[in-house]
Amino acid sequence: MPPQLKTLIPLFAIFITLFLVARYFLVPVSFGDQGHYRFYSVEENKEKVMQYAGKDACTECHDDKAEELSSGMHANLSCESCHGAGMIHYENPETTNIVKPDERVFCGLCHSFNPTRKDKIAQINLDEHNIDNKCIECHNPHNPWE
Ligand code: HEC
Ligand code: HEC
Ligand code: HEC
Ligand code: HEC
Repeated sequence: MPPQLKTLIPLFAIFITLFLVARYFLVPVSFGDQGHYRFYSVEENKEKVMQYAGKDACTECHDDKAEELSSGMHANLSCESCHGAGMIHYENPETTNIVKPDERVFCGLCHSFNPTRKDKIAQINLDEHNIDNKCIECHNPHNPWE
């Protein structure tokens, strides 16, 4: 046996042991039970409270707004992209209020000039476009040209 192995073999033995010990403590419980992921993460995610109800849920009670929305240029937007997460309102409409985003800056989130979306969403300059009024005085949020 070459003499240098006398040092290398114990060194490797130490490294491998350290690795196995570290692995034992660092790999999370349930990792690998069903594949290359933490099996318990499915349970953890199931416990999260739902925040969004979805357009179909809103349509159950506000079919007039849903119809209005579907007939105009905002047809592809979800209700909750403007009104915010609505699960609480969906479950109990009387007790909770829901956002009504009527400020200019809100519409500006999608429509103020931004070169990366120039060809996708019509752009205006918030500091020049009819600055004395709120957007919704001229554009119906559910159907901008009606
Ligand atoms: C179970 C029926 C029901 C469902 C489902 C429902 N709503 Fe409502 N919503 C109501 C009622 C009733 C009111 C009127 C409450 C009031 O006047 O205080 C209302 C009022 C509103 C208002 C006006 C609030 C205000 O301050 O004037 C908005 C905006 C709204 N809903 C959006 C939504 C959205 C978005 C969804 C889907 C996430 C939704 N609603 C789902 C029944 C419902
Ligand atoms: C582009 C943003 C946007 C989208 C998308 C949108 N809304 Fe609205 N919605 C508004 C704004 C802004 C108001 C407040 C209008 C006002 O004060 O006159 C409003 C008002 C309302 C109101 C209250 C009307 C009233 O008379 O007080 C209801 C109900 C409502 N929206 C439901 C919905 C539902 C249901 C959807 C999906 C089908 C939806 N909205 C999608 C922006 C939006
Ligand atoms: C979540 C992003 C989003 C928000 C918020 C939003 N819009 Fe839009 N808007 C769109 C998209 C997408 C279209 C359709 C594509 C386009 O602009 O041509 C559109 C179309 C329009 C158009 C027609 C543009 C054209 O090409 O003729 C007007 C006007 C408009 N929106 C006004 C508003 C107003 C007013 C608000 C605020 C109440 C608002 N939008 C909020 C995404 C948004
Ligand atoms: C005084 C009425 C009025 C107000 C307030 C107003 N608009 Fe307009 N908007 C118009 C008219 C009229 C047009 C079409 C002529 C033009 O492009 O200026 C238009 C056009 C647009 C377009 C299409 C631009 C294009 O290049 O096709 C968008 C998007 C838009 N407005 C969004 C908004 C937003 C967002 C607000 C609020 C920050 C707003 N508007 C406020 C009247 C108004």
